Amino acid sequence: MSTALPPAGPHGHGSEAVSIAAERRWLYIVVAIIAMLLAMMVFTSLHWASMPPSRVETVDVKTLHIKGEFVETNLGTTVAPDGKVTVRLIAQQYSFVPQCIVVPADMPVTFRGTATDAIHGFIVGKTNVNTMLVPGFVATFTTTFHKTGEQLMPCHEYCGTGHEAMWGRVQVLPAAEFLQKANGAERMSCVSR
Ligand code: CUA
Repeated sequence: MSTALPPAGPHGHGSEAVSIAAERRWLYIVVAIIAMLLAMMVFTSLHWASMPPSRVETVDVKTLHIKGEFVETNLGTTVAPDGKVTVRLIAQQYSFVPQCIVVPADMPVTFRGTATDAIHGFIVGKTNVNTMLVPGFVATFTTTFHKTGEQLMPCHEYCGTGHEAMWGRVQVLPAAEFLQKANGAERMSCVSR
């Protein structure tokens, strides 16, 4: 069985003309698919405010627990004197620290997170919070929660045998209630509740 094409005459022949038309049709389809993908990227980045990767900031995994920003006593939510809200968290096999994060509604919240052992995923319910926590790197982004209530925070990056049991929660409080709680508290979380 041969798949070789018959020799073409000096002006081509019928089957060649057909294949050029088919190629052109496929070319249009490919261009349309690429245009659609680009349009989806633009739409999600504008409409859902999907975030670009944060700048590269490194952290030493080996000393993470002992000193610096990500020691356990420094994890959780803080309100700076200038009113800026920052959440620091760590992902490890197979939990988040803290397991329950408390944030205010309608105020910008900056997250700073990293991982100790494997690549973990960090996503918060029906919000635009979605990043990866990678050992050795600090993931940071700022977002604003508009709806109060509790959101689930599953790890969404396969990180080992316990991956599917890796869950946390985010509690979004009305801004006034949050600030009242924050008053006097150095680091906040909702783990004990
Ligand atoms: Cu951590 Cu999957």
